[in-house]
Amino acid sequence: MKIIICKTYDEMSSAAAKLVAEQLNEKPTSVLGLATGSTPEGMYAELIEMYRNNAVSFAQATSVNLDEYYPIEPTNDQSYRYFMNTKLFDHVNIDKEKTFVPNGMANDPDTEGIRYEALIERLGGVDLQILGIGRNGHIGFNEPADRLIPGTHVTALTAGTIEANSRFFASEADVPRMALTMGIGSILKAKKIVLMAAGAEKKEAVMRMLEGFIDTNCPASLLNLHPDVTLICTKDAINA
Ligand code: F6R
Repeated sequence: MKIIICKTYDEMSSAAAKLVAEQLNEKPTSVLGLATGSTPEGMYAELIEMYRNNAVSFAQATSVNLDEYYPIEPTNDQSYRYFMNTKLFDHVNIDKEKTFVPNGMANDPDTEGIRYEALIERLGGVDLQILGIGRNGHIGFNEPADRLIPGTHVTALTAGTIEANSRFFASEADVPRMALTMGIGSILKAKKIVLMAAGAEKKEAVMRMLEGFIDTNCPASLLNLHPDVTLICTKDAINA
């Protein structure tokens, strides 16, 4: 795993945005795997800035998001579809028809998982996958467990994740209890992976991942199986 340690959150955001821009400049038709949450917000702001300065174009790009709450309306301001529209898609020249997020209103979440996995395959797979990491080592909504599901699937959120995400909702009771998420297998199929981590509260999970073992109780540790992962983190998120 390559490691880039940044002094500040802004530096981390710029470093990650630079990698996304390089990917798009090299291959304008790239399929980007995108994440939500607080960690990549600065990177999206930086990409919007770069787009305004003609340093990057999303005209031919496609995106697939990692996950979405279930059930949730796409117009709900806590949905990941809403997040992506407002934090990135509405401000750059990406074709919205080519931005994909799991359908939080699907009648049958199991069928939605299968459809989404087939969609990623049809797109030719993800060229560059952006990830954040949960305090418990989750990636996407693949929570620590003795067994992990490889493909896109519906899953129950852990109490810790519900509590961590409640900061975005009016109350903890409003946080959906389920989510659709790409599986560890879907994530590992990406050609390149960039994992971003900021803040001391991520240090334990980051260090566990960096031990180099494969442990389904730290889902991020499965990234040790992938040949091209870059960790971009702030210095307080790692024992440097
Ligand atoms: C979001 C996602 C999650 C987050 C993780 C960290 O699409 O898949 O795994 O990356 O929960 O969240 P933040 O960045 O809010 O600390």
